[in-house]
Amino acid sequence: MARIAIIGASGAIGGVIASLLQTTGKHELVLCVRTPIDRIVVQTPEGEVALNGTLLTRPEDATPVDWVMIATKAYDVDSAAQWLENLGAGAAPVAVLQNGVEHRERFAPYIAHERILPVMVDCPVERQPTQNGVARLVQRSTMILRVEDETLGHEFVGLFAGSTADVVAVEDWLTVAWKKLANNAVGALPALVLKPAGVLHDEALGEVALDIVRECIAVGRAEGANLPDSLAEDTLAACRRALPDSINSLHADRLAGRPIEIDARNGAIVRKGKTHGIPTPANSMAVALLKAMTAK
Ligand SMILES: NC(=O)c1ccc[n+]([C@@H]2O[C@H](COP(=O)([O-])OP(=O)(O)OC[C@H]3O[C@@H](n4cnc5c(N)ncnc54)[C@H](OP(=O)(O)O)[C@@H]3O)[C@@H](O)[C@H]2O)c1
Repeated sequence: MARIAIIGASGAIGGVIASLLQTTGKHELVLCVRTPIDRIVVQTPEGEVALNGTLLTRPEDATPVDWVMIATKAYDVDSAAQWLENLGAGAAPVAVLQNGVEHRERFAPYIAHERILPVMVDCPVERQPTQNGVARLVQRSTMILRVEDETLGHEFVGLFAGSTADVVAVEDWLTVAWKKLANNAVGALPALVLKPAGVLHDEALGEVALDIVRECIAVGRAEGANLPDSLAEDTLAACRRALPDSINSLHADRLAGRPIEIDARNGAIVRKGKTHGIPTPANSMAVALLKAMTAK
């Protein structure tokens, strides 16, 4: 049994993570949210789960826990970090459930490197508008979580024992994270043209998608990831297999006028490319255009 805080518990990933931990029947949950709500309900493939736990909106009300799980968007790191001191992070391990490959870098100003566990998250979850104080999340398939094959990773896997999560500690986490990044990076194109995933069947856009992933492969390899040349074609093929009317989260955030996670995705490829002297023109253009289009 562990006392576990989830920062961002009313969001898509945070809510599903909390529901999975709750279904183990073993843990005490502390649900840290930003916007005040009364209840969080998760529609899982197995049925509805109403979250039980201590609901907090003010970091100053938090007390130490055994584990912290951060499930905010990557651009909300500074505000998420306000919870850490009172939750006892530093002694407690901190799992960062976000997209990208810079989980440790993002939280380096706040937590020691060895207390951070980067988590690759793969699960389509939608957040529905909060109504009458109830935050509602819809989990579309099994939650896939991948962590490093080390002590913290093993402990993290153990927390989910008895839940439906597909959670595994893998030997080459870096490669898993870069493969996910390749997929996310292509998502910049539908978000740019504000058209659902089907737009990637366009031949010219498909060529740009391949360029985006080839740059990702070059930079990822320089970082130590084991990425085959075929990842470019495989990623595009996977994107083309998606439901043609599906909308990725960059696109959805852009439509809703919310900030977008472009910096943690294509931005990471550009930044890390620069450190290795690898040109990333396709990703640079995607970042520049999306930043200009979403600038307030
Ligand atoms: N959704 C998916 O299907 C999916 C799949 C794979 C990976 N991911 C990744 O998972 C991460 C989380 O994404 P998401 O889709 O779950 O985002 P989300 O639905 O926007 O949820 C983020 C939550 O964090 C909350 N938050 C922000 N700052 C906070 C703070 N200081 N204290 C407490 N809560 C705070 C937000 O509160 P408010 O209610 O105030 O906005 C929101 O409820 C991202 O890196 C995303 O790329 C998402």
